[in-house]
Amino acid sequence: TTVEWEAESYDMGGHDTYMHKEICEQPDAVDRVLRGRIDDRFSTVHLGGLNLDAREARGVRRVKILGCGSAYHTGLIGAQLIEELARIPADAEPASEFRYRNAVVDPDTLYIAVSQSGETYDTLAAVQELKRKGARVLGVVNVVGSAIARETDGGVYVHAGPEVCVVSTKCFTNTAVAFALLALHLGRIRDLSVADGKRIIAGLRKLPEQIAEVLSGEEEIKKLAALYADAKSMMFIGRVRGYPVAREASLKLKEVSYVHAEAYPASELKHGPLALIEPEVPTVAVLPDDDLLEKNRATLEEIKARSGRILAVAHQEQEKADHTILVPRNEVELDPILMGIPLQLLAYHSALALGRDIDKPRNLAKSVTVE
Ligand code: G6P
Repeated sequence: TTVEWEAESYDMGGHDTYMHKEICEQPDAVDRVLRGRIDDRFSTVHLGGLNLDAREARGVRRVKILGCGSAYHTGLIGAQLIEELARIPADAEPASEFRYRNAVVDPDTLYIAVSQSGETYDTLAAVQELKRKGARVLGVVNVVGSAIARETDGGVYVHAGPEVCVVSTKCFTNTAVAFALLALHLGRIRDLSVADGKRIIAGLRKLPEQIAEVLSGEEEIKKLAALYADAKSMMFIGRVRGYPVAREASLKLKEVSYVHAEAYPASELKHGPLALIEPEVPTVAVLPDDDLLEKNRATLEEIKARSGRILAVAHQEQEKADHTILVPRNEVELDPILMGIPLQLLAYHSALALGRDIDKPRNLAKSVTVE
């Protein structure tokens, strides 16, 4: 299915910035990426443009996801989803690194290029190099008919609608949902049970409403952004599912507010970055309620012991944190999708408090079509 964009999509619709508008559009955008794709009868999804039949899908031995910036981060989420739901080894890599390192191109690997614009030069060049070597490459792309959409063998359109703000918000979320659909599809062709398929579908259906619930907490997040606006640098941490969320949140804050930020796997903190922790360097901790929550809480204690301030994103109040942003529960596999939303608002309100040019941050472009 294709979705036509009307001129009024570019209207600010009463918002002061496109970033704010695009953050607020996410319940509808997620609804669009799901629309017409869920198959309740077989507890799976249909992805019309994939161009990968069941036999080919079963033959995939590895998945390699390539993209730049936020697209790369959605690839990190996508790789985890594909490993979890389809049990295919999967990883993501910046498209530029991949194209410059003369990577081994393996016929049993499914390559996936991710891009909002479909025009990012490094990603396109990676696709062209892969095609030249005979690889099968799919696209997870927002802009219909873009270069990457045309040059890939098939793929999944993200249907986020036009994204005008330089920093990605709704397209990031929709791409993560598109990866959940792809992972579910591959999973149900392989070993994912009907019951698990149903569980994930029910979780996906809940997302638009739960995103709206997170967005309704904006005033609270705005106050938190003001409290943390004096930070000289911010640390973002998470384990496994929380880690790509931390990566993206850190990028978002840097891009739009110009506050230095770093993302680390929570366990790596003790191997170096803990030396940076002091009250002026607060930590944002992404804490899904999964089997790693206890480990994450221990990390919060280590930070507290160094008088670091902590802002947690979690499903329940975190005792060790100075503040907690609450996010509704869904299926654990889908936690990264919901947990990213409040951190978009945090970056937005930090930038607003600091008087930044939100829709056009200095030195950045919406799509980088040159080398
Ligand atoms: C630029 C933008 C980023 C974006 C990246 C990839 O650097 O500033 O926000 O994530 O390009 O863009 P793409 O269109 O390929 O997703």
